[in-house]
Amino acid sequence: EVMKELFGLRDLEKSLERRFGIKRVFVVAGNSDEDEWVKKELGRACIQLLKSRLKPNDVVAVMGGTTLAAVADMMMPEANMRSVTFIPARGGLGEQVENQANTISAKLASRAGAQYRLLHVPEQISEEAYASLVLEPSLQDILKLIKSASTVIHGIGDAKTMALRRQSQHSFVDKLVNEDAVGEAFGFYFDRMGKPIHKQRTIGLQLDDLENDDKYVISIAGGDSKAQAISAFMNYRPSDVLITDEAAAESLLALP
Ligand code: F6P
Repeated sequence: EVMKELFGLRDLEKSLERRFGIKRVFVVAGNSDEDEWVKKELGRACIQLLKSRLKPNDVVAVMGGTTLAAVADMMMPEANMRSVTFIPARGGLGEQVENQANTISAKLASRAGAQYRLLHVPEQISEEAYASLVLEPSLQDILKLIKSASTVIHGIGDAKTMALRRQSQHSFVDKLVNEDAVGEAFGFYFDRMGKPIHKQRTIGLQLDDLENDDKYVISIAGGDSKAQAISAFMNYRPSDVLITDEAAAESLLALP
């Protein structure tokens, strides 16, 4: 906290809280676009928050991506998380294994000494196959657990970056650009105003599930390249907590 005063980070946090209506913002020093260690600091801040908030038997749903992978890397053994369950929030979204929500849940749990469950769904299947798959009792159980999560932790990406990372077709990428999609979170692409304009089909948490306000939503994203994307998502729905870095915070406050 003393260091935060010194760097003026608390001022950035308060300005962001006011501007976007976010209950609590945490800003770490640096720019994660430039330095890998900044992502670890984002991860550390997230773990600190979890330690102070999680209660026995809580269910925590997590998304994928490199920032969430950094969160998992920073987890430490936590005796009071023993009965907490980490679970992927949604099915696969075309990430590399180490950045998939399944991997991240398992890693968070094994490092903390907590519990985890996996969600196994193939990524490219027909609508029909999908419809029958979700009727499977084992899948129904885990979907129920996901929907019951008290806490959700997710990343936010730049729309075009994410579409390219997912090897989307050129026509889709062009469409996103034409429609002014700037942000991506939960497999949904958002325009500047925060309107969801495209959705990647997969099971698990849907955007509607965030609207009941019964879940504590932690958004974690840094780097000035993500400012527009973070702003888009916060325009859709201000999170309970945003964990970001100095570079993103400054760019966010400089947006028109
Ligand atoms: O693909 C999963 C996901 O959480 C996306 O919803 C998000 O845009 C992205 O990862 C963030 O990834 P990174 O932390 O690597 O920028």
